[in-house]
Amino acid sequence: MAGRRPLVVRGDDYDQRFQELAQTGVDVHGEASFVKVLGRRSVLDAGCGTGRVAIELAHRGMEVVGIDADAAMLATARRRAPELDWRLADLTTADLSAESFDVVLLAGNVMIFLAPGTEAAVVANLASALRPGGLLVAGFQLDERGLTVEIYDDLCRAGGLSLVQRYATWDREPWRVGGGYAVSTHALAGDGVLVDGEPERAQGAVIVGPISA
Ligand SMILES: C[S@@+](CC[C@H](N)C(=O)[O-])C[C@H]1O[C@@H](n2cnc3c(N)ncnc32)[C@H](O)[C@@H]1O
Repeated sequence: MAGRRPLVVRGDDYDQRFQELAQTGVDVHGEASFVKVLGRRSVLDAGCGTGRVAIELAHRGMEVVGIDADAAMLATARRRAPELDWRLADLTTADLSAESFDVVLLAGNVMIFLAPGTEAAVVANLASALRPGGLLVAGFQLDERGLTVEIYDDLCRAGGLSLVQRYATWDREPWRVGGGYAVSTHALAGDGVLVDGEPERAQGAVIVGPISA
């Protein structure tokens, strides 16, 4: 995993931070709420870490699989929810060809923790795990000198995905150009969700709201 941005806090300590935040009354389940509202059933939590989001989604009745390349993070996930499906694998190379999910989730800045240069391979690999009508959902900090929404949309386009919706936060605050954080949903091109911002006839897919760029 050379080149991957190291996590300063990992495993149980990573989880502890969120638990302390929750105790102060902060809603630490914005990602799970966002996904739940999409009205889908199965979720691949890609870069699941300690299972923070996947475990909450499972509590809310969704089928979840978590994948992460960091054994220490996964050890916490396995300890917290041994009944769930946790996989130690690199998102760049994990064989997902036999898998099919309604939602593939990149929560908690996973996109900017990938090894530089692997982003396109990861997005294309994850796109291959979407079932027709499925959504790739990603939230990450934006950096004019790093990953921008334009670059991310290009990565998605190269992976056969079109932008469906973009928000500024997991609470669905409206997206504004120049914002510091983006939550984006993309669907397989031609799926009838939205294509390049133009609504097509929805073929069983959920349109989650208008794009406000
Ligand atoms: C900031 S943590 C986010 C964890 C979790 N999604 C959350 O929201 O709490 C980023 C995670 O991405 C994982 N990651 C980074 N690159 C990866 C890769 N190529 N394959 C699998 N996991 C990766 C890291 O191991 C880490 O657990």
